[in-house]
Amino acid sequence: MSTAESTSSRQSLLVLGIESSCDETAVALYDTQKGLLAHNLYSQVELHAQYGGVVPELASRDHIQKLTPLILQTMQEANIESKDIQGIAYTAGPGLMGALLTGASVARSLAYAWRIPAIGVHHMEGHLLAPMLEDPKPQFPFICLLVSGGHSMIIRVDGIGRYKLLGDTLDDAAGEAFDKTAKLLDLGYPGGPKVSNLALQGDAERYHFPRPMIDRPGLDMSFSGLKTYTLNTWQDAIAKNDATEQTKADICRAFELAVADTLAIKCKRALEQEGLNRLVVSGGVSANREIRAKLNTLMQKRRGEAFYPRLEFCTDNGAMIAYAGAQRLLAGEHQDLSFATTPRWPLEALTPIA
Ligand code: KG4
Ligand code: ZN
Repeated sequence: MSTAESTSSRQSLLVLGIESSCDETAVALYDTQKGLLAHNLYSQVELHAQYGGVVPELASRDHIQKLTPLILQTMQEANIESKDIQGIAYTAGPGLMGALLTGASVARSLAYAWRIPAIGVHHMEGHLLAPMLEDPKPQFPFICLLVSGGHSMIIRVDGIGRYKLLGDTLDDAAGEAFDKTAKLLDLGYPGGPKVSNLALQGDAERYHFPRPMIDRPGLDMSFSGLKTYTLNTWQDAIAKNDATEQTKADICRAFELAVADTLAIKCKRALEQEGLNRLVVSGGVSANREIRAKLNTLMQKRRGEAFYPRLEFCTDNGAMIAYAGAQRLLAGEHQDLSFATTPRWPLEALTPIA
């Protein structure tokens, strides 16, 4: 058992978590002994859908409107009063500056008024630790495939804050590739679920898309070439008068299979390189059923274990921020009143606590 786990099983800490880094306003109450007490999320998807992507200024304005009522609603649902809350965790980065500032300001003000500590959480550490909210939860050490809208990373995790970046994307993140594919096929926003749903009706035999970077050594990834291949395939179909819904579905299927295969090959390589057999997959793209299926097959063949967050905690949520913040607050970390948000923030810069 790690230091953080042994501490958290002894001490109780009730933490309010706030996530506002992009287009979801999310709040949760997490107790280190009782677990998750309540969580709520307000998605701005409809607000941004008409623009085909997130408009940062609109995101900030909406967070400001939604955050306080969402906090009150979550406290009511958990039957928790302000005097019961012992710490506040908020996303301090990476993310959209204005959106981050809304969460940070509310969190800091509440912490000041309630005279409790507050902590700025790294959004990707939140994603990385989200599977810890499940039962069974992964034991350290493990390999983490962290795939979201802005990041595609393969990380060796030896404890909380003990992160070694093994592979990164050289260009587009996996989620970004899904979003761009959806855009070029005119499927709307957010792209991941749209591509994935249409892929269900696609014929896996019709197209074979390249598996980027698998013939090169190392664990880095690149998805921009796949995006170009997708674009060329679609333009070719248009030129041949074959721009049908079925063609779109076939392209989605081929694209999804190529991403899933690439990620599985890289994960296998990382596990072999590090001599580990435990894989944690998190971030928005970890909700994808084809990717989960490929990674489950990989881990079954290796007689290893695969861990994921429940589907609603793959994408942005308040629970992962409350959990990560609670671990750091338990370890004695918190910041003074002059806070800063960090739109760009390497995961490896975090301090180890376990
Ligand atoms: O982790 P997340 O909510 O936000 C970031 O931190 O970026 O991830 C959002 C990303 C988007 O690119 C979205 O298209 C993708 O996750 N995503 C999916 C699926 N659900 C969300 N990608 C593929 N399949 C899905 N089912
Ligand atoms: Zn995220």
